[in-house]
Amino acid sequence: MDAFHIQTLNFTPTANDISHQIQTNSRFIYYAALSTIAICVWLFQSPKRAPHVLAYEVPRRKWMFNADTLVKDSYGKFRDSVYQIRSTEGVRTIIPPTLVGELKGLPEDTLSAKTAVSEAMLSEYTHLSADAHSDILTLLLKTKATHNLQRMISVLREEFKFILAAEFPTCEDWTPFRVQPFMVRAVSRLSGRAFVGSSLSRSEEWMGVSVNFAITAFIAVTKLQFFPPWMRPVAQYLVSELRTIRKDLAKAQALLEPLIEERLNQTDMSDSDKPDDFIQWLSDALPDEEKRNYFIQAKMQLLLSASSIHTTSNLTTDCIYDLAVHQEMQDILREEAMEVFAEEDAWERRDSIAKLKKMDSFIKESQRLSGNITSFIRKVMKPIDLSDGTHLPSGTSLLTPLAGISFDERYFPDPEVFDGLRFWKLRQQRQSSSPIRPSSPTPLTRSPSSSTYLETTTTPSKSATTSSPSSPASSQSPTPLDSSKYQFTSIGDTNQNFGLGKHACPGRFFAAQEIKLILSHLLLNYDIKLRDGEARPKPLVFMMTKSPSQTAEVLFRRRKAI
Ligand code: HEM
Ligand SMILES: *[C@@H]1O[C@H](CO)[C@@H](O)[C@H](O)[C@H]1NC(C)=O
Ligand SMILES: *[C@@H]1O[C@H](CO)[C@@H](O)[C@H](O)[C@H]1NC(C)=O
Ligand SMILES: *[C@@H]1O[C@H](CO)[C@@H](O)[C@H](O)[C@H]1NC(C)=O
Repeated sequence: MDAFHIQTLNFTPTANDISHQIQTNSRFIYYAALSTIAICVWLFQSPKRAPHVLAYEVPRRKWMFNADTLVKDSYGKFRDSVYQIRSTEGVRTIIPPTLVGELKGLPEDTLSAKTAVSEAMLSEYTHLSADAHSDILTLLLKTKATHNLQRMISVLREEFKFILAAEFPTCEDWTPFRVQPFMVRAVSRLSGRAFVGSSLSRSEEWMGVSVNFAITAFIAVTKLQFFPPWMRPVAQYLVSELRTIRKDLAKAQALLEPLIEERLNQTDMSDSDKPDDFIQWLSDALPDEEKRNYFIQAKMQLLLSASSIHTTSNLTTDCIYDLAVHQEMQDILREEAMEVFAEEDAWERRDSIAKLKKMDSFIKESQRLSGNITSFIRKVMKPIDLSDGTHLPSGTSLLTPLAGISFDERYFPDPEVFDGLRFWKLRQQRQSSSPIRPSSPTPLTRSPSSSTYLETTTTPSKSATTSSPSSPASSQSPTPLDSSKYQFTSIGDTNQNFGLGKHACPGRFFAAQEIKLILSHLLLNYDIKLRDGEARPKPLVFMMTKSPSQTAEVLFRRRKAI
């Protein structure tokens, strides 16, 4: 192992670190002096301040547990304007869906996703960043993972049956069961099968590190955020989760090392004999000098788990809650699944899952109503001027008001109503209506690569702003460019649950396959309901994250004949 790797692995404070901290502190005094001067200058010059940006004035502490309501409320007030909030995380500039189109295609050196994420995750301390390897990660997910999962559906179904047999009650009669913890384990197992192969995915130790990494990291970040930035170099030693992160990385590395070494030793293996999992793809993609850097492999695997397991299991849990509430959707989706999987070899065929169009719509609707509070986390690196006259100086932290957009009646008529077939109906309409009208708005700049991921550029028309809410929905909703816009994995300006642009979630096709597999299997084998008189479990809201209840129980009963 060369010096670089030893350094990456060595997390104990060294003389170097300490002198760095001292430097940081003297730098702090320097900056404090500078900013005092800056504030004085600003005070006397305030009339000439930067162009006016609307502000949503709510005390910062309120954002901790009410972000969902506050984002919806602020969006209701400002909708199509840029405005600022002072959230727990700091000042954020909110970009409406009518203007985000001007931003999503900008290059990383003007508007950075990496810097924003790395700041939000305090990567400097948590090491939660793929750094130089993030492009490899995204590329492998977009290419290998999606196709691999399509091929693996029947293997994964067997794996899911195995998990059910081991961890799910038999449910001969209605049986209450806590959904969320089970989904975390099930998704972790299924994803693990594709990421590390069967030998590790069934290991409790591996499941432990891969599930806990994200949770530990989240706690570490939350704790560190309570310290002002200048205290963090010292405060980091008070946050025990940072040590746990290092231990988990070391444990993941110890588990992966023998596996990778064995594979690297078998130099005579032909491509077709190679295992088909993320370990192998990453190993093949890494340059020779990094192939035996097991730390990189461990870190990438845990980052992958952190971005995939909880997001996917949370949405699957929300889908189960919605199925339990909307009994009629169970019948509709079960019928569709029965039709698709009726044929003998349907589970082996890679196109079967894609035929579940009503289920696709249902999942998207579940996500619309339960999805995150904000999206499009970006940092302005070079000043940007928007067409409405807003000037975004470098250093501005951006977000989009996802929770507001998802309930905007201009984009989603009767937004409060759960309509599991909402997007299916829109897809049907598009398919039956005439081809794209020549007058439809031209898409804004889109990078050539983004079009391959079904990104549709939706530009909500300006007229929508002024038209009365009672005018027909069709004239208000953004003009669709094609039916693929209404798929679960489609993204657009009014459809930001997976982000937007070049950094939009590369794992969403993978997530879609996994969720559909789980829901199909459960629907075909169980009836689902809530306890009599119980309402849908309430979500948990903490800072900008919204998650389904982790303790709610849903009743399952095994179906007799299929
Ligand atoms: C329902 C499940 C999921 C949701 C809601 C979700 C959501 C998101 C969102 C909102 C982003 C940020 C996009 C942006 O800023 O424009 C993102 C990024 C990312 N997601 Fe997902 N995700 C999900 C599942 C997955 C899965 C299964 C994987 C891996 C297999 C994954 C891997 C990633 C990665 C690597 C990024 C960073 C991409 C980049 O910065 O270029 N996600 N995801
Ligand atoms: C791989 O090969 C090296 C030497 O070439 C050997 O020390 C090591 O034990 C081998 N590992 C495995 C897992 O086969
Ligand atoms: C929701 O937003 C928070 C804060 O930006 C982020 O940490 C989390 O990963 C997001 N979750 C999903 C499902 O996108
Ligand atoms: C999802 O669930 C986990 C617990 O498994 C939670 O810690 C996390 O914050 C949740 N939310 C999102 C949006 O990922």
